[in-house]
Amino acid sequence: ADPTGESAAAARTIAAVREVAEGCRRCPLWRNATQTVFGEGPQSASVVFVGEQPGDQEDLAGKPFVGPAGKVFDAILEEADVDRQKTYVTNAVKHFKFEPRGKRRIHSKPNAGEIQACRWWLDKELALVKPDLVVALGATAAQSLLGKAVPVTKMRGQVVEREDGLKVFLTIHPSFILRIREPADKDAERARFRQDMRAVKKLM
Ligand code: URA
Repeated sequence: ADPTGESAAAARTIAAVREVAEGCRRCPLWRNATQTVFGEGPQSASVVFVGEQPGDQEDLAGKPFVGPAGKVFDAILEEADVDRQKTYVTNAVKHFKFEPRGKRRIHSKPNAGEIQACRWWLDKELALVKPDLVVALGATAAQSLLGKAVPVTKMRGQVVEREDGLKVFLTIHPSFILRIREPADKDAERARFRQDMRAVKKLM
């Protein structure tokens, strides 16, 4: 049972929904996380970016994309002339899932059930913001938004229209760039992501 269902269903603003989401118990991830990391940005935004889930730093700060992946994301948005402040940034899953390893907390991928449970919040955010375009950053976001697994590396740069008319732009997750070691490959991937963000800018 979800003790917050009714108040969340009645909430009419992002601020109100965010408050209700603080007490979310829709899946077990709340138990180990510090807090719910809800989306951030103006409710009037025309573009919504959807990541996977908060990382270690996001969990502590309570804000999406403020850690290493967020730094890459910010830098490339700036290069593509996209003002993050005018967009709404959120995640498919709103609690940090991790495995403790010594003093460190190692990111662990959310499963289909957790993505499904949290989709309730993402749907609510999209219903309130009503963006012209949603950008799926990586496979988890794409799966949550489209309800099925899609090959994002193959389909990157493409816009898929959902049955409800929502346009979903597919691309990789910025943390994918962070994981590439070979400098030339890293630069190439960074350039591809910048190109995707320039395409998003044109659609804004
Ligand atoms: N990765 C994500 O998918 N989301 C964040 O908020 C941070 C890192």
